[in-house]
Amino acid sequence: MEEKYVIKGKNPLVGEVEIGGAKNAALAILAAATMTDETVHIDNMPDERDTNALLKTMEDIGVIIKRNGRHSVTINASQIRNEPIENDQIKKIRASYYLIGALLGKYHKAEVAIPGGCEIGLRPIDQHIKGFNALGARVCIEHGLIKAEAEHLVGSHIYLDMASVGATINIMMAACMADGQTIIENAAKEPHVVDLASFLNSMGANVKGAGTDIIRIKGVNRLHGSDYTIIPDQIEAGTFMMAAAATMGDVTIKNVIPKHLESISAKLIEMGCQIHESDDAVRVVASKRLVGTHVKTLPYPGFPTDMQPQITTLLGVASGVSIVTESIFENRFRYVEALTKMGANIKVESSSAIVNGVERYTGADISAPDLRAGAALVIAGLMAEGFTTVDNIEYIERGYENFDEKLRNLGAQIEKVADDSSLQKFRLKYA
Ligand code: UD1
Repeated sequence: MEEKYVIKGKNPLVGEVEIGGAKNAALAILAAATMTDETVHIDNMPDERDTNALLKTMEDIGVIIKRNGRHSVTINASQIRNEPIENDQIKKIRASYYLIGALLGKYHKAEVAIPGGCEIGLRPIDQHIKGFNALGARVCIEHGLIKAEAEHLVGSHIYLDMASVGATINIMMAACMADGQTIIENAAKEPHVVDLASFLNSMGANVKGAGTDIIRIKGVNRLHGSDYTIIPDQIEAGTFMMAAAATMGDVTIKNVIPKHLESISAKLIEMGCQIHESDDAVRVVASKRLVGTHVKTLPYPGFPTDMQPQITTLLGVASGVSIVTESIFENRFRYVEALTKMGANIKVESSSAIVNGVERYTGADISAPDLRAGAALVIAGLMAEGFTTVDNIEYIERGYENFDEKLRNLGAQIEKVADDSSLQKFRLKYA
C-alpha cells in the first residue's frame, strides 16, 4: 500500500504552529545561489520534496551542498559542470526552469529538461522565452530539453503579457548578469519575487522595484557570496489559517509576515472568523458556522490561486451560495470530485465553482490531485464526520514539511500510514 493520510474529523484545532521557509522563494533562491562561485549560506530552508529535488539536482551537476541541520544549507557552485540537466527528479518540479535563468546569466548557456509540477493547467513558458530572447539568447526546445544560449546577454525592455511569477524570476536572474539595464514591466509582485530580488542584491546584484509592476535591473559582472534567511511561507501559513477556521479552532500561526496574509485574513473575516495580528503571528478563531462569500484568485496582492482549493473546501460547508472564480490556472478544480464524494454540492462551470453550502462533510476515501488541492482535502477530512483517507500524499509532501505532525500537535486526529494494519489500528483507536 502506498502511504496515505488517515483522518478522523471533527476535532477543533487548538494551539500554536510554526511556519517554515517559503518553498517558492527557496526554489528561486537555490537556483540563484548557483550564479556565484563564492559560498552562500541559506537559512530557513524548508525540508520538502521540491526543494530537496532541486538540491539533489544541483549536487548532480557539481554544486557542493552542505547541510547544517535541517533548515540551513551552505552552497558552493564554483565547480559546476554546465551539462544538460534532465534527471527524473528535475522533470517533476516546476522550478527546474529557474536553473535556465541562473545558468544562462552565469555561463551564457543552459540546457534543462522541460519542467513538470502540478497539473493545474497548460502552464506555457512563452513569457520566459520571450524574456531570454529579448536579452539576446537563442532558445529552442529539442528532445524534451529547453536550450538557451547567448554570445552576449544585453539588457532590454520586456513587457510581460501576464504577471507571471516564473517568467519574472527567470528574467530577473539572467538580467542580473547582462550588460546594461533591463526593465521588466507588468512584473509579478508575489512575496517570493521580492525575496529573490533581496537575495540577488545581497550577492551584489542591482535589482530595484521588486514588489511593484516595474523591476529595473542593472547588470553586474559578478555576484559574490551571501548569508541569507528565506521569508516564511505565505501558503503554508494560509493553509493552517484555513484549517483553524475549518475546524472551529483557535490557532496561533507563528513566524509569518502578516502583510503577506492580508487577502486571506480579509476573506476569513468576511466568513465570520476573528483574526488577531501581531508582529510575526496571526491568531485565527472560529466559533460559529462560517458564512459563504465570493472569491476570485488574482496575482498578489489579490487572493492567491494556491489558496483556492483550501477556501473552496471551507465554503463547501459555509451557509449560502459562494462563487469561486479561478483566474490564473485553467484546471484547478479537480479536487471538487473528491469533495462531492464527501457530500459537497459544488458545480464547476468553466473558471468558476458555484458552491452551495451543505451542513456537513462525511469521511470518504479520496486522492490528492495536486499539492494545494491535497492540503485542501486533508482539511476536508478534518471537518468531516467519521474517517477519511487521502492518498497520493507525495503531492502534499512536495510543499508541506511535516504536515501531519504539525496538525497532530494542534489536536488533529491524523496519521500517515503505509499498511492496512496501521490503518485498522488508527480506526480502532478513534472508533
Ligand atoms: C508560480 C508558483 C505557483 C503559483 C503561481 C501563481 C512557483 C514554483 N510556483 O507558478 O505555486 O500557483 O506562481 O501564483 O513559484 N503563463 C503563460 N506563459 C508563461 C508563464 C505563465 O501563459 O510563460 C501563464 C500560466 O499558464 C498561468 C499564469 O500565466 O495561467 C500565471 O503563471 P505563473 O505566475 O508563471 O505561475 P508559475 O510561475 O508557474
